[in-house]
Amino acid sequence: MPAFGDETLKTALPYTDAVRAKTDHIYARVADVIPEIEWRLHAPYIAAINDLKKEKNAVILAHNYMTPEIFYGVGDFAGDSLQLAKEAAKSDADIIVQAGVHFMAETSKILCPEKTVLIPDLRAGCSLASSITGADVRLMKQKYPGVPVVTYVNTTADVKAETDICCTSSNAVEVVEHAAKEFGTDTVILIPDQFLAKNVAAMTDIKIVTWAGACEVHERFTADDIREIREGNPGVVVLAHPECPPDVLAEADFAGSTSGMSNYVKEKQPDNVVLITECSMSDNVALENPKVNFVRPCNLCPHMKRITLPGILRALQTMEHEVEIDPEIIERARKPIERMIALPLTRQSMYNHAHAPEVAAIEARA
Ligand code: 13P
Ligand code: SF4
Repeated sequence: MPAFGDETLKTALPYTDAVRAKTDHIYARVADVIPEIEWRLHAPYIAAINDLKKEKNAVILAHNYMTPEIFYGVGDFAGDSLQLAKEAAKSDADIIVQAGVHFMAETSKILCPEKTVLIPDLRAGCSLASSITGADVRLMKQKYPGVPVVTYVNTTADVKAETDICCTSSNAVEVVEHAAKEFGTDTVILIPDQFLAKNVAAMTDIKIVTWAGACEVHERFTADDIREIREGNPGVVVLAHPECPPDVLAEADFAGSTSGMSNYVKEKQPDNVVLITECSMSDNVALENPKVNFVRPCNLCPHMKRITLPGILRALQTMEHEVEIDPEIIERARKPIERMIALPLTRQSMYNHAHAPEVAAIEARA
């Protein structure tokens, strides 16, 4: 998907000497993945966004799936869902621009209700977040009274408002075990990602009740894909996101959140690696690990790709689209997120049992 639509190209900002002076140091970081001819389109937007951020006391929270010109060009904080939520909670900016999808912007608003939170494109949704409603969760609670509800952060504020504690892909196993202990149950409801739930179930003795949601990006990877990648690239290290189906994780060497995968590459410096996840991850991680060769099959998230530099600039200029949530929902949705953030969690990953000792060592250092 192009970073600039036809309409934007007609009104592209000029690449001037002033723009060059403001952005050359950024280009030096991304030159390996962005050709100069393309950079000349990005740079004027990067300069304008960075100026406007200062003027308006705004920060940009950039998810690991943002394209490199956003991730390195304008992002003030980058990371996985958990890290972005923590940054939102700490931020003293007046405005947060979420370079990510809508549920992430809602999380920022829930944690910072006094701030203006902007999402550059309202169509930046998520197949997991749209798979379940607050009413669905209320029905599940009626069916399983007394069973704690653990909700993946990839959900709407309405769903979080019905939740006991949130989790992300980096802490799901620990959160589930914590919830079972706190509620004195042997069963936990973990929604809405059926694959994350199955992957967690393989790592714990707690019984898991789940929902039929799936990530439209990660559900498309298959175990055959992994076997083909290994055949074509002997010795390649395979890292997979826990939203992938269980048979994909079973073929992987390591499973972790987007930051878990990034940390693995930084620490282990494998010769050859493949990230079984969204495409921009490899570009962003490759730039920080120039000695590592990245094998590139990947799937694009169409929602993440709705976020572009022209969109971010427009958001800061027009203050659209502001995320608004009913204050009563904010109050109820904040508790499960804060409970998650307050937990003393240690794991950075989920993993294939076959590789557990190696991964445990990485976790211990994280
Ligand atoms: P992370 O929490 O691992 O960044 O995942 C968010 C996401 O949407 C992955 O598809
Ligand atoms: Fe949602 Fe999947 Fe896109 Fe992540 S990659 S935002 S889970 S659709």
